[in-house]
Amino acid sequence: MKMAMERRPEPELMDSEAQTLAYAQADFAESNQLFTASFLSAFSELPASGQLADLGCGPADICIRLSRRLTGWHITGVDAGENMLRRAREAIGEAGLGNRIGLRHSHLPDENLGRSRFDAITSNSLLHHLPDPMTLWRSTRQLARPGAPVMVMDLLRPENEQRAAELVDTYAADAPEILKEDFHNSLLAAYTLEEISGQLEQAGLAHFQVSQPSDRHWLAHGLTPS
Ligand SMILES: C[S@@+](CC[C@H](N)C(=O)[O-])C[C@H]1O[C@@H](n2cnc3c(N)ncnc32)[C@H](O)[C@@H]1O
Repeated sequence: MKMAMERRPEPELMDSEAQTLAYAQADFAESNQLFTASFLSAFSELPASGQLADLGCGPADICIRLSRRLTGWHITGVDAGENMLRRAREAIGEAGLGNRIGLRHSHLPDENLGRSRFDAITSNSLLHHLPDPMTLWRSTRQLARPGAPVMVMDLLRPENEQRAAELVDTYAADAPEILKEDFHNSLLAAYTLEEISGQLEQAGLAHFQVSQPSDRHWLAHGLTPS
């Protein structure tokens, strides 16, 4: 088994004007589509309507993709970054989905978001930003009703810095410098499959399936305990 390098945390929020603009303009279509398609195929028998929360929604691209497919659902994008939420608001307006996607400015953990309010929870690329990764899993348990579908995806920490640099070259060669740097730092801050399994066990979600859908992502999904 390959050993992963030591994890190097990165700042929790990426909310400067320059970062949010670069992030909102970046083309994450491949991974965001992978996430959306994985959610819809793992939970192919969703009811026609419900409430879904996307934690750490960023510029809301995944909220928009999900909303286009789950036309009877209301989606709440939750994010701690004010500038990021402004980008999200613009994108939702341009997509004409303001009546089906709401935004909530919230820094997780946040008891004010309520309990058991959501019928489904999604989150992409938030976990590696959190100082305590259990914040995501506990927030998921707090917000989801029993038996709710949950899907979480994030980057996978490579075995060394050279491999991280290779991934940046492969997937972000033409991206602006600021995005390349964010991607590199995110890879170093990401978790390994073993660490994810440990977190899930601690959160009472050990029954979730954990897979590796690409050379740089892990994905966990399952239903919250009834
Ligand atoms: C890498 S972005 C991912 C955005 C989006 N999910 C995507 O896939 O494009 C991470 C987002 O998490 C947000 N974030 C970081 N810590 C947070 C926290 N404690 N509570 C809520 N949002 C947080 C950041 O503001 C940022 O928008």
